[in-house]
Amino acid sequence: MERKTAVISPQELRRQGEIAQYIKEFWQNQGKTPVAYVETYGCQQNEADSEQIRGILETCGYGLTDQAEGADLVVINTCAIREHAAQRVFGNVGALVHTKRRHPGQKIFVCGCMMGQPEISARMKNSYPHVDGIFSPHHLWQLPEHLYRVLIRHKKAYAVEDSTGAIAEGLPVVRTNKLKAWVSIMYGCNNFCSYCIVPYVRGRERSRLPEDILAECRELIAQGYKDITVLGQNVNSYGKDLGLGIDFADLLGSIAELEGDFTLRFMTSHPKDASRKLFDTMASHPKIAKQFHLPFQSGNDRILKEMNRHYDRARYLELIAYGRKLMPEIVFTSDVIVGFPGETEAEFEDTVSLIEQVRFDALFTFIYSPRPGTPAAKLPDPTPKEEKNRRFDRLLAVQNAISEEKHRAYVGKTLRVLVDGKDGELLTARTDGGRLVRFEGGDALIGQFINVTITDATTWSLVGALAS
Ligand code: 5AD
Ligand code: SF4
Repeated sequence: MERKTAVISPQELRRQGEIAQYIKEFWQNQGKTPVAYVETYGCQQNEADSEQIRGILETCGYGLTDQAEGADLVVINTCAIREHAAQRVFGNVGALVHTKRRHPGQKIFVCGCMMGQPEISARMKNSYPHVDGIFSPHHLWQLPEHLYRVLIRHKKAYAVEDSTGAIAEGLPVVRTNKLKAWVSIMYGCNNFCSYCIVPYVRGRERSRLPEDILAECRELIAQGYKDITVLGQNVNSYGKDLGLGIDFADLLGSIAELEGDFTLRFMTSHPKDASRKLFDTMASHPKIAKQFHLPFQSGNDRILKEMNRHYDRARYLELIAYGRKLMPEIVFTSDVIVGFPGETEAEFEDTVSLIEQVRFDALFTFIYSPRPGTPAAKLPDPTPKEEKNRRFDRLLAVQNAISEEKHRAYVGKTLRVLVDGKDGELLTARTDGGRLVRFEGGDALIGQFINVTITDATTWSLVGALAS
């Protein structure tokens, strides 16, 4: 099978690099180091995109700042997954009128998934004249060109044309964390879950070549990164578009075989594609964290069908059971949506019972949010908002009790953790399963794998002491 994925040509990328150099000289000629502020909404993929945005801006001569006030460039990287996040973006972009008034040279760019929705980007363009540039995720790699248009030609930049997507290899990256790194292995999604906007704004699934991913991971390990998370909207379908006979489990296994002391994680998975082979690979590689984020969305088969998820409750439970049989210590986390259009009380109870049956370590609970343009947004939705809120609160209460019990079970155990920072006076660390631990210790431990004994637990985190 031929590789179907479009790749941005090296010539095109070189051209962007030349424009970046031109912008850098433009600032140098003014005797100024400009500063940029990048604000990110939404998921880890967006965080990874923002790291590329920062990388590109650095090649354009920008330093980074952590506030919009006084910045020469503000980039707002938006999320479209729920309405609430979208509303916040409109409010915050609106407020930038004031920072721009105080600093008239300030340029404002808005990008990310919201800008992949034609009616939203049009609203941004028409109603927010202080915004200088708008681009969708497909047009991120052309950031130097957008900046050139705005800075040098004094025009607005507007790049939102739809596309199935391509891959741009070798973009510069500025990582915010020195220990943990995210590596995108694929982009886009082919699943079209009926509630989800992602496939419309991020295009079709396209995988990076294994050798490019391995080279990036090797480099990260050499730089001292200790915790690598490979990212994709649905990592389990990695490689299907490449035609190389390499699937996600193969890729994960080959990264785990790289030399060095590091932990390897992945997200996000889709239960319809999560294979036994993937669990087998996890079990046989000590460097792969025994942590699995496996969104189930609903515990009811009719709702799962309406969501276009292509698995049922039984198949989901089977996967959990298989994982636990191979790795009794495995940590499962998940996403769930309450109040999907037409969800009855009994169907909601199926979700509660699945949570009670599986006993996740942590759960991300969302109230259904209609996304214009998705099939679910057209379904009748008679359930009142108050009722959805009640279901949401009930799920939270059920899960919080489980999380606390699961955390309590750690008390007395000694675990290997990666010390990743500080919270006030205490050090913070993550267990192999991704649980947060706080404990007393010297700053010199930051960046090391050490053993801690768990002494106490709350719903959200563990308390520990250095193991003797
Ligand atoms: N409404 C509510 N939650 C949603 N998610 C995705 N789309 C929607 C929506 N329209 C949730 C899913 C997904 C997580 C990232 O966000 O649970 O797994
Ligand atoms: Fe959205 Fe479903 Fe794709 Fe996840 S798998 S991004 S929920 S369409």
